[in-house]
Amino acid sequence: MIEARPWLDRIQPYRPGRHATSADGSMASNESPLGASPAVAEAVAAAAVEAHLYPDSLALALREELACLHDVHPDQILLGNGSDELIFLLAWAYLAQGGHAVCADPAYRMDEISSQVVDAQLTKVPLRDWTHDLDTMAAIPADIAYVVNPHNPTGTVVGRGALERFVATARARLVVVDEAYIDFTDAPDATTALPLARRGQAVVLRTFSKVHGLAGLRVGYLIGNQEIVATLRKIRAPFSVSALAQAAALAAVRDLDHTDAVRRHTRDHLAALTDLISKAGYRVVPSQANFVLVQTPDEQRLIDRLAAHGITVRPGSSLGVPGTVRMSVPTAKGLDLVARALASG
Ligand SMILES: Cc1ncc(COP(=O)(O)O)c(C=O)c1O
Repeated sequence: MIEARPWLDRIQPYRPGRHATSADGSMASNESPLGASPAVAEAVAAAAVEAHLYPDSLALALREELACLHDVHPDQILLGNGSDELIFLLAWAYLAQGGHAVCADPAYRMDEISSQVVDAQLTKVPLRDWTHDLDTMAAIPADIAYVVNPHNPTGTVVGRGALERFVATARARLVVVDEAYIDFTDAPDATTALPLARRGQAVVLRTFSKVHGLAGLRVGYLIGNQEIVATLRKIRAPFSVSALAQAAALAAVRDLDHTDAVRRHTRDHLAALTDLISKAGYRVVPSQANFVLVQTPDEQRLIDRLAAHGITVRPGSSLGVPGTVRMSVPTAKGLDLVARALASG
């Protein structure tokens, strides 16, 4: 019987969030409470007519749209099967066979798992006040430094100035800024690392799974310098982003009204959710994402209390932060469920 490479034994399998019996109660996976733009279903139905054809491996139409949106050259963009695929490509290209990555502790789980898959050294730097400790991270001579901004699982943000200083001083050869939740921040344009990515000083990761509500279709993208994009393109499975996913993403990115509505809903309901939880006596890490990290001496008790009202959340212990529970910003009805659950003692 063949045995897997020995270093794979160290990997703790990823534990996905569970859906509740109702969409309103599902608060475990940071999905969009308003779903995708109505234009997406139409675009997917139209694309399905050509389901027998391979997708455009280069995703030209989508890359051109995104290039225009972000003011970069289309060759600075690479599409992936979710941004998770791009995280794995980065690990294969820049961490395999003796590489070294640095990230926050707790880390976004895929940054950790992808490094472990290629047997890279991984240095995890504990958060300070729930935020990346960029000074300590900068001093570590790694190949890749991951900054997740806003961070998952905390929702905390590092400002553009701090990020620029980090990129200027980091001993890591490549800084990857994962902006899965950037649209939910107080000032996305002033926070994003896109100006650094445009100049080739960092790589930015974005996803269609959050503000655009396409988690089920799997589309993410990377923006960086053209050499990095060309290297990753060489090692990627050529058809990893389906034609349906490309059509959906194009429709989603063009529906600015829907994106604005999701952003507004998220920010309003984030405030209301934070308020409810705080009034129930829990401490909440101040978040600028579409979820909050709730501190509790008894993780399971809070999970059970919410589950009794049909709510699923993510145990902090599965995310590297025992003693916490991560809750996604819900629908309006979901917020009522939380209010009832917390009122019931
Ligand atoms: C920080 C971060 N990066 C990337 C992703 C994955 O995005 P995708 O669905 O595009 O693979 C997530 C999803 O939860 C995330 O939290």
